[in-house]
Amino acid sequence: MNMKVSVIGTGRMGTGLVRNLHPVMSRLVWGSRNPAGAQQLIEKYGFKGVEAAEIQTALQADIIFHALWFRDLIPWAESCRELLKGKILVDLVNPFTEDFSDFTMDWGTSAAEELQHKLPETSVVGAFKNTFFQVLEKPVHQGTVSDVYVTSDDEKAKLAVIQLLQGIPFRIMDAGRLSNNRTIERMTLFERELAIRYGHYPYVSYRIFGQGDEQA
Ligand SMILES: NC(=O)c1ccc[n+]([C@@H]2O[C@H](COP(=O)([O-])OP(=O)(O)OC[C@H]3O[C@@H](n4cnc5c(N)ncnc54)[C@H](OP(=O)(O)O)[C@@H]3O)[C@@H](O)[C@H]2O)c1
Repeated sequence: MNMKVSVIGTGRMGTGLVRNLHPVMSRLVWGSRNPAGAQQLIEKYGFKGVEAAEIQTALQADIIFHALWFRDLIPWAESCRELLKGKILVDLVNPFTEDFSDFTMDWGTSAAEELQHKLPETSVVGAFKNTFFQVLEKPVHQGTVSDVYVTSDDEKAKLAVIQLLQGIPFRIMDAGRLSNNRTIERMTLFERELAIRYGHYPYVSYRIFGQGDEQA
């Protein structure tokens, strides 16, 4: 696939995405408000084929993974609306309260759908919403490969992302339409609570077993 790909944000998830994506692509642009900081991380972790860039440059990609918090995401998306037109924007946000005790939206919607609503000319694809940052550092737990649920209302965009993610150490699953994020995003709140109760937070992700389970 000859798509230009970028990641926006050098926080925990942004770094984790770059860590997992760069080995399966020849070139990856890492956009930040602080490109020098991104460059330092590239050198610190030895990420090969990764180029630090201003956010504007990173938005020239065909597939853009953002790693922003919901409070920053919607204003950011609105400010970049023109540059995001016709692009695939991969969304991992979970809209939780500051203390992570609850969801901030009504039952009948999700952050992914709100983002799509704000960007009608961009194809929003949900992914990595249930994967806590420590799992991106060590994806395989005692031989178990965790799932990434990929959703979109744009079938072509969803399949492009599924194809792009082949080869990373996760099981990539077609999780259907964007509104499935009403469930998927809330699943993150639930797994967080369980991981805290059982003492392994923030090392937690999902693996749904059953058909095709013999395949990693
Ligand atoms: N933490 C987890 O385990 C986890 C799991 C699943 C999903 N998520 C979701 O992932 C997202 C990020 O979480 P995180 O833990 O990685 O947060 P984080 O470590 O605080 O990183 C957030 C990053 O967003 C970027 N950013 C902030 N404001 C921005 C703006 N106005 N414009 C552009 N970039 C901006 C910053 O990157 P620069 O400084 O480089 O610009 C910052 O480092 C959240 O939406 C969260 O719900 C997190």
